[in-house]
Amino acid sequence: MKYSYDRSEIKKIPLSGFLSMVPVRNRKIAAGAETLPVSEYNANRLAKSLHPAVQHVKIAKVEEHAEAKSFTLVPDTERGTQKLAYFRASQYVSVDLNIGGATLSKPYTIRSGPGRALGGTGTSYVLTIKLTRPGYASKWILGNWKAGDSVDISGPLGDFYYDRIRDARHVVALAGGSGITPFFSMAEAIADGIEDFELTILYGSRTAEGILLKDELDAVAARAGGRVKVVHVLSDEEREGYEHGFLTAELVKKYAPEGDYSVFMCGPQAMYDYEEEELKALGLPRRRIRRELSGDYIAGEASERSYTLTLKLRGEERQLECREHESLEWAIERAGIKAPTHCRSGECGWCHARLVSGEVYVPEAADGRRAADVKFGWIHPCASFPRSDVVLEIYPGA
Ligand code: FES
Repeated sequence: MKYSYDRSEIKKIPLSGFLSMVPVRNRKIAAGAETLPVSEYNANRLAKSLHPAVQHVKIAKVEEHAEAKSFTLVPDTERGTQKLAYFRASQYVSVDLNIGGATLSKPYTIRSGPGRALGGTGTSYVLTIKLTRPGYASKWILGNWKAGDSVDISGPLGDFYYDRIRDARHVVALAGGSGITPFFSMAEAIADGIEDFELTILYGSRTAEGILLKDELDAVAARAGGRVKVVHVLSDEEREGYEHGFLTAELVKKYAPEGDYSVFMCGPQAMYDYEEEELKALGLPRRRIRRELSGDYIAGEASERSYTLTLKLRGEERQLECREHESLEWAIERAGIKAPTHCRSGECGWCHARLVSGEVYVPEAADGRRAADVKFGWIHPCASFPRSDVVLEIYPGA
């Protein structure tokens, strides 16, 4: 064989180091442990820290507001949670509750900015929970939670956050009542330098006295360097320095910037119904209007009519009463059965169950099912209301 290079240089390389590699490696293998090495990839470790199935927390502080309270939650290290998961401003957690034998979980927005969940120690979330009607969970929480109590919550959830690829650089936020909480979190993230966009909040309240978190919001806006603007809109009184009326398209136009912007909404169902019509006048592309969906979908007025819900669960069957105006999820929880839920508004798909027979009403605004789910009879019990006796299978195949 002919070589086209000078082999003399290669011959100068001592080979003893290479030749001893095999016996050295064999000796190390023989001296090693009998068991397989356990390793975890960084991506898996990160995923676990961002999406824990459960976070054990303690209530460190309770602040009172009119018809609402703010609860500061910190890790319950004694029960194994060392730090709280980082989140995107305006995400929510699902809170486990046991109310009079009914086991349920309810979504509440993390009102504080994500900066408070950064770092290895001293992490916290603040939940501001307002009394809602109907809303036995909020009433129970406001009446029972106190400093020192232990609570279990999910990891952060939901996609009602700012995304610079999807959303315009200027966001006009429409908030009603406790719907201010996700925008408070965004404002804090902007003030802390974690998010980088312009936020104009049009915040609707009945009266100036009834504005939830007004002073706190003013303080955050003041340190956001002009990137957060808050406009208070009062429906029931006229006052200098405040807008009067409702969150109309005209008002949005008045405060929106020239050019492109997104509208984000968070508030009660009645506000969404109103804004749905109102915002048509703005002619914004569909992707520029976003609304928060977590929280029970309320379908119409209370009704006395009820049906039988037959629940197939892990090979067993139970029969429950379900009321026409309450979601199937409510009936399941009232019976003390822990069913999977997170958003409670038909959006996340967590409660996914099979409708074996019967008729249900699924409001269009809360129908987050895929076309295949609709075709093959899958529903979200949190956003399905009985219109006949119903047979439902949850955890099918388990
Ligand atoms: S809990 Fe999210 S869809 Fe039912």
